[in-house]
Amino acid sequence: MTLLPNHLPTAELQAIDAAHHLHPFTHSNELAEKGVRVITSAKGIWLKDSEGEEILDAMAGLWCVNIGYGRDELADAAARQMRELPFYNTFFQTTHVPVLMLAQKLAELAPGDLNHVFFANGGSDANDTNIRLVRTYWAEKGQAGRDVIISRWNAYHGSTIGGASLGGMKGMHGQGSLPIPGVAFIDQPHWWAEGGDMTPEEFGLERAQQLEAKIKEISPDKVAAFIAEPIQGAGGVIVPPETYWPEIQRICKKYDILLIADEVICGFGRTGNWFGSQTVGIEPDVITVAKGLSSGYIPIGASIISDKVADVLRGTEFSHGYTYSGHPVACAVALENLRILEEENIVEQVKDVTAPYLSLIHI
Ligand SMILES: Cc1ncc(COP(=O)(O)O)c(C=O)c1O
Repeated sequence: MTLLPNHLPTAELQAIDAAHHLHPFTHSNELAEKGVRVITSAKGIWLKDSEGEEILDAMAGLWCVNIGYGRDELADAAARQMRELPFYNTFFQTTHVPVLMLAQKLAELAPGDLNHVFFANGGSDANDTNIRLVRTYWAEKGQAGRDVIISRWNAYHGSTIGGASLGGMKGMHGQGSLPIPGVAFIDQPHWWAEGGDMTPEEFGLERAQQLEAKIKEISPDKVAAFIAEPIQGAGGVIVPPETYWPEIQRICKKYDILLIADEVICGFGRTGNWFGSQTVGIEPDVITVAKGLSSGYIPIGASIISDKVADVLRGTEFSHGYTYSGHPVACAVALENLRILEEENIVEQVKDVTAPYLSLIHI
């Protein structure tokens, strides 16, 4: 078995990293000069680096290690599945047990009529799926011109060309000629930074009503969907005023615009419910999930789709998919992760214990 050289001196590991590894969202030369931190192991909420330093992982990896590090059950689920069936595709009239069980489980956990699952490898490519699926939905309904997706400035929806286009981060748009055509933006509901003299309630309504103004500006028969996180994560943990989401939901219903809730961060307990949509009281047509779906132990993402949208998609061949859509090992790990979240009441723990406790801390 290949043994990884965790024992090498930090400087040697740093030199190899600097010579060959380009990091995401990083100025590589600056990092090489500073010296990267080498993480070697983790247990519970604690990381350990190559200097033996213990670090409290308050960010849960990258907002994803919802059940904590070091859970043997997930390693065992992966090993068992690798021995049984390490890979098979789901393109050519075949399925396998882990993928169908996970699809059923997600349909059970997701609210309302979100009963259908299309698998991806992470959040970015699940959002790429969403772009294609909402446009295909409207085309199948005879409205092919209905292809604009409205998002928000400062939103983060991933790093693929589609995901970064849906995101409203101007720095990201500045590299690689983004966004792609057919994406429009409104302002974010960030009262604390942008509310001025308005009350949170007034500001929430004002920002939500920008959606209605944008739909009218573009023309309702050209708008396919609105995408947003229930609570913006990477943008700065922006909790919208209480008036915001009910107004957004009203506008989407009025103009028959599909609502995509990007739950890549909010999903699987982070807001005290299984989904952030439940916390803010909305009924999306599509939910994007990733991260906490496997607690980050293995890459997997998905679009969870309503009966209304799936009924239309099922009537055509949706020419889309990834080699690793519904990868059996990833699905087996995700199922085991969901079992732990459920059996250990982690979602309830967040709502009833952790969040009330943290809310008492004033920095
Ligand atoms: C809201 C949201 N959407 C999409 C993504 C992209 O997910 P991934 O990095 O798994 O592609 C992220 C990642 O942080 C995210 O926070």
